[in-house]
Amino acid sequence: MSFLELAKKRRSIRLFQQDRDVPNDYIKKILEAGNLAPSAHNKQSWKFVVIRGKKKDELAQLITELSELFPKKSRLLLRMGSKSIFTAPCVIGVFSTGELVSEAGEYGEDLKKEIEDFFLEMEIQSASAAVQNMLLQATELGLGSVWLGVVVLVAKQIESFLGVDGKLLAMFPIGYPSKDYTPPKKKTLSEVVIEIKD
Ligand SMILES: Cc1cc2nc3c(=O)[nH]c(=O)nc-3n(C[C@H](O)[C@H](O)[C@H](O)COP(=O)(O)O)c2cc1C
Repeated sequence: MSFLELAKKRRSIRLFQQDRDVPNDYIKKILEAGNLAPSAHNKQSWKFVVIRGKKKDELAQLITELSELFPKKSRLLLRMGSKSIFTAPCVIGVFSTGELVSEAGEYGEDLKKEIEDFFLEMEIQSASAAVQNMLLQATELGLGSVWLGVVVLVAKQIESFLGVDGKLLAMFPIGYPSKDYTPPKKKTLSEVVIEIKD
């Protein structure tokens, strides 16, 4: 499969075959792909938390319970995310460690706040590159996944539930797709590309 074919094949899968587990060596490959992503200052200021079994189901339950605190649209998104986590055999949480942000003071005390914000943005962008690498690796292995940004709405509760020291940026369940899904329509290149010439 060429890279472009792989990129085309990847698509968000939200429901999984519950009776089909994902082998640990597949999860390891996915994690390796994430850890090879570019990162600001090559800091790799991320943690990938692999959650399986009872803890994963409890996490799904927690998200469902917390969804009650939100208005309809967010509640539905949280519930959908929870269902994806519940039906998948494995979910990976991506956290930023703040290692880069903690160095902001070295770049000038006067601008510390601005540099902290900038470094936080760089940590988020770095972790996003790692997530995309992992989603593509999962696709190459015949697995499905979905990038769940909605968990950020309940990040604090999830961080303390998992006991992980870091800022939760995203989660993605991994499993075998429950069925073939129709790919979503994408904008054409002419809609998104701006060419600037002299
Ligand atoms: C930053 C980010 C956050 C996302 N958060 C969610 C989410 O919380 N729930 C969800 O079902 N999909 C989420 N998605 C998946 C998008 O809905 C999906 O990528 C988009 O609809 C295009 O479909 P495709 O991935 O199949 O190409 C997220 C994607 C990105 C990049």
